[in-house]
Amino acid sequence: MNSVKVKSPATVANIVCGFDILGLCLDNPCDEFTLSLSDKVGVTIENIDEYNLPTDATKNVSGVALLKMLEQEKNIKGFHLISNKIIKPGSGIGSSAASAAGVMVAANYLLSKKYSKQQLVDFAIFGEEVASGAKHADNIAPAVFGGITLIRSNNPLDIISIDYPELFVTILHPQIEVKTADARNILPKEIPLKNAVTQWANVAGLVTGFMQHDYDLISRSLEDVVVEPYRSKLIPYFYEVKNACKNAGALGGGISGSGPSIFMLSRTAETATSVELAMKEVYSKTGIEFHTHISSINKTGVSVV
Ligand code: HSE
Repeated sequence: MNSVKVKSPATVANIVCGFDILGLCLDNPCDEFTLSLSDKVGVTIENIDEYNLPTDATKNVSGVALLKMLEQEKNIKGFHLISNKIIKPGSGIGSSAASAAGVMVAANYLLSKKYSKQQLVDFAIFGEEVASGAKHADNIAPAVFGGITLIRSNNPLDIISIDYPELFVTILHPQIEVKTADARNILPKEIPLKNAVTQWANVAGLVTGFMQHDYDLISRSLEDVVVEPYRSKLIPYFYEVKNACKNAGALGGGISGSGPSIFMLSRTAETATSVELAMKEVYSKTGIEFHTHISSINKTGVSVV
């Protein structure tokens, strides 16, 4: 096989209380990447979308991940990538991770699947670093593995797939840009022990809630006392949206990754639709352009099409 096309999904990092360690994979939207083996040394990139991302591989998230893999692959000269980004960069639903994860899974197909999923995440993290200035895997891991993942350790990587009950995700995407690097820079370097205790109790509660399919426990655990108080300031009407969604029946939710998207989890598709209406009602009064959508959780991650 000399060429392969993949669909690479959006993801929600953090899942409220699990900053940099929890993430879930969405069914939609998905980017599309066609990757081919090339006789040209290095990585050539052709963008067929509207986002004008760099075609210099050393400055491109997909390119950097592919170059990292090429360092290990002495028998391959290069790759040619046709990149069709659907997930808007800077939206908070893992656009850069989709770029890095998608091409790693595609390259692995061209290499007869010689690498494990965890190894693919390891390469992809270098691409993510280009976009966010930090090596975090909480978007890449769910994009590669599907479902809900826990990153117990970044170095060495230790990724655990977590069981979960049926869930529907409603997303509000205000049409403003929040750069992940900026949203990381505003966070305090240290946190009070009291907040740390609350936070790790909620992380443990959330993971247990997912695994035991306990919706009430999931709902109680979707609280963030560490990051949300700072980042919510970057998202206009954040608390109005959150309250309206809870009143509409959402289990809970918060900032998707580093924002500006807001996500809410619901037990049924019907509730997810009521939550979407609640989001629209709040945001249509703000004068800020926005999009909403509903997705279920993607069980498989990046897929070959
Ligand atoms: N965990 C990262 C952050 C995700 O919150 O900065 C960025 O999408």
